[in-house]
Amino acid sequence: MSRPTSPPKTYRVKSFGCQMNVYDGERMAELLGEQGITPAPEGEEADLVVLNTCHIREKAAEKVYSDIGRLRREDGTSPLIAVAGCVAQAEGEEIMKRAPAVSMVVGPQAYHRLPGMIAEAVEGRRAVDTDMPAETKFDTLPARRKVGPSAFLTVQEGCDKFCTYCVVPYTRGAEVSRPFADLVEEAKRLVDAGARELTLLGQNVNAWRDADGRGLERLIEALAVIPGLARIRYTTSHPNDMTDGLIAAHRDIPQLMPFLHLPVQAGNDRVLKAMNRSHTAASYLHVLDQVRAARPDIALSGDFIVGFPGETEAEFADTLRLVEQVGYAQCFSFKYSARPGTPAATMEGQVPTAVMDERLQRLQAALQRSSLAFNQATVGQRCAVLVERTGRHPGQWLGKSPWLQSVHFTGEAAIGDLVEVELTEAGPNSLSARIIAA
Ligand code: 5AD
Ligand code: SF4
Repeated sequence: MSRPTSPPKTYRVKSFGCQMNVYDGERMAELLGEQGITPAPEGEEADLVVLNTCHIREKAAEKVYSDIGRLRREDGTSPLIAVAGCVAQAEGEEIMKRAPAVSMVVGPQAYHRLPGMIAEAVEGRRAVDTDMPAETKFDTLPARRKVGPSAFLTVQEGCDKFCTYCVVPYTRGAEVSRPFADLVEEAKRLVDAGARELTLLGQNVNAWRDADGRGLERLIEALAVIPGLARIRYTTSHPNDMTDGLIAAHRDIPQLMPFLHLPVQAGNDRVLKAMNRSHTAASYLHVLDQVRAARPDIALSGDFIVGFPGETEAEFADTLRLVEQVGYAQCFSFKYSARPGTPAATMEGQVPTAVMDERLQRLQAALQRSSLAFNQATVGQRCAVLVERTGRHPGQWLGKSPWLQSVHFTGEAAIGDLVEVELTEAGPNSLSARIIAA
C-alpha cells in the first residue's frame, strides 16, 4: 500500500451522524485551516480526507469501510486518510488492520492532535489516538472565525445513562460539561463571526452543570443577553434531566425557541425498563405537560427505536398510542441495531428484520401524520424566519421558523435576516410563507 508522503495542501472533512459530529467536523476544518491546508474545491480530490464517523447504528459504522474503498484511485493509491469520530474510538487498531489506506485514526476527544499526526503520517508512520486526555481539545482549538447564521456550540459531551442499546457511553465517555466562562466566550465569538442563532449541543445537553452547580438555564440566560444573538436552542435532552429551572426558562427567556427534542424511544414501560431508560411513559408525558404549561406553543420532537429485543406487537402498539397522545412536530425513528459490547446485543428475543421493517413503516406513517397536523395548525400564523440559504427557484429563500420548521418564501431578503412572514401552506416536512411588508 503506498500512502502519500508529501504534506497535504487541501482537505475535505466528511461528517456523518449527529450534530455533535458536525460541530467536531467544523472544528477540525478550522484546525486544518490554521495549518495552511485549504478546503478542496468542489468536485476536486483532496490531498487529505477526514472521515468523521458515526457508530450509533450498524449501517452507519459499515459505511466507513465502503467510503475508504471509494477513495482509492485507479492506480491503487489513495489520498491521506484520517478516520475520526465514534467508529475511530470504538474500533481503533482494527481500522488500521482492515484498511491499509488509512494513516490516522483519531477519537472524538483527541482530534486537536491531528496536525502532529499528519506530520507523522507523511513520514510514513501510522498513528491511532483514542485517548480521552485530561487537557481538553477545546483549550487548544483555534478561535471561531466565520460561521453561518445558525451555529452549533458543544457545551457538554458524553453520557452516564447507559441505555442498554447505546454505544455513546463507551465511544464518547462519561458526562463532561464545559466551563461556563469558556462557553460565554465562544458564544460571543460565534456571534461576532456571524451567528444569530446558537444550538447548544450535548449527548445529554440538559445534564450540563458547571462547577458551581449552575444548570443549563443559567447558561441560556447568560447567552440571551449577548447583543446580536436572536435565538437559542439546545439538543439532545434526557427526560430525567428536565429540571423545573430549565422548564421555566421556556417561559421566561424569549430568545429560547419553542422547540424541545426529548427522546422517549418507546411507549411501553417494560420495554423502557429493559432499555434502562429510567423513566416511564407516564413520567415522560408528565414532563411534557409541564413544558407545555410553561410554553403552550412548544413544538415537540423525539427519537424512537422499534424492535428492541423482546418487543411484542402489543408493546409496540403502546408506542403508537404515545405518538398519538403527544402530537409531535417532528421525530427520528430507527430500527433497533445490535451494537457489539452493549447489554441489549446479547438479550433474548432479538426481533426479525421483517418485523422491524413493518413496525418502522407504521410508526413513520403515524409520525408523518403528526408532523403534517402540527404544520397545518401553524398555517395563518405570523412568525420570524431566520434565513439560512437560497432556495431552488430564483428569489426563493429557505430558513427556519421558531418551531424549527423549514420554511420557504420569495422576496427581498438576505442570508442571516430574520424575516417576518405569514405561513401559508403546509406539508409534513416544510411550509411556504409570504413576507409581511415591514
Ligand atoms: N439502535 C437503533 N437506534 C439507536 N439509537 C441509539 N442507539 C441505537 C441502536 N443501537 C437511536 C436512539 C437515540 C438516537 C440518537 O439514536 O433513538 O436517541
Ligand atoms: Fe445513548 Fe441513552 Fe445516553 Fe442517549 S441517554 S446517549 S440513548 S445511553
